[in-house]
Amino acid sequence: MTEQHTSGVHHFASDNYAGAHPEVLAAVAAANVGHVPAYGDDPWTARLQDVVRAQLGEQAVTYPVLNGTGANVLALQAMLPRWGAVICTEAAHVNTDENGAPERVGGLKLLTVAAPDGRLTPELVDRQAWGFGDVHRAQPGVVSLTQATELGTVYTPEAVRELCDHAHARGMRVHMDGARIANAAAHLGLPLRALTTDCGVDVLSLGGTKNGLLLGEAVVVLDPSAVVGVDFLRKADMQLTSKMRFVSAQLVALYEGDLWLRSAGRANAMAARLRAGIDAIGSLDVVQPTEANAVFVRLPAHVARALRRRWRFYDWDAADGTVRLMCAFDTTEQDVDELLAALADALDDAPAPEGGAPATP
Ligand SMILES: Cc1ncc(COP(=O)(O)O)c(C=O)c1O
Repeated sequence: MTEQHTSGVHHFASDNYAGAHPEVLAAVAAANVGHVPAYGDDPWTARLQDVVRAQLGEQAVTYPVLNGTGANVLALQAMLPRWGAVICTEAAHVNTDENGAPERVGGLKLLTVAAPDGRLTPELVDRQAWGFGDVHRAQPGVVSLTQATELGTVYTPEAVRELCDHAHARGMRVHMDGARIANAAAHLGLPLRALTTDCGVDVLSLGGTKNGLLLGEAVVVLDPSAVVGVDFLRKADMQLTSKMRFVSAQLVALYEGDLWLRSAGRANAMAARLRAGIDAIGSLDVVQPTEANAVFVRLPAHVARALRRRWRFYDWDAADGTVRLMCAFDTTEQDVDELLAALADALDDAPAPEGGAPATP
């Protein structure tokens, strides 16, 4: 373990750099009693069904899984025939960060469109929503949107509703990658169902890990007519965990009360503080609106190098110096203020020589 691993520094690379929330750990410990049936036939998974129904509506059926890539692949596979295709943005996690799993594991084609702020619109969808019935073209069957987006922006409920209506009118279904849906809801001050069920979303990948779980997400089917074989596919996709109670207990801890909102609200608030501090510096180009828990800013190379002596964060566009600074449920005001102070100092300094700290992978 390097010093960076043990020093207790809160990095700005991703919300999944954070540990698990103490309330989540307590729920895991509380679930560690005796023997219960495996593969989801346990009291915690039953409780989770009720908890998610209370959040998303009585029709919701929840399938706990191990990670977000698995949730997305399972959801999309269950929504599409073998000749199906998914319309999504170029920046969508399913397209950029899942090592082709939707294609390799799911056997699906992704039809991508450039979306400057990460958000699909009906017009952008229509750039790929064509060729229905043409045997030469993979058939667009699902529109997949990410909430909050990979660029830290948030769809309003009206925008989600418009996309759902548009997709449905063309015979397509809507999947939402909600790895950070809690951050979107916290930003909008709305309940989770106002961004999903009430807008016509058919299937949701419900986030957990990014908001303080050890691990665990869920596929939530909001319209049962949108899927086939989720149970079977979850096993075939290697997402059926035997000791499911421990995944379900974590999700119950997150969504039963307001932990999801407290945690996401804090991460968002820290990103807003960071954004305000960067704006106050005045000389830096912030690339996207800061609506959820990430700030995208262009940094001179010597500044990024100087900050990387202490913190990890991702290059977003190495060509123009854009980096992503992401806050988590456990980011503190002090973390943000120290980063801002270091940023101001580095901007004042002359460029340091190349070859300092290695770039974050
Ligand atoms: C938008 C989005 N979806 C899904 C995921 C889930 O990924 P993982 O498979 O690493 O849990 C992530 C993680 O970075 C993400 O940012």
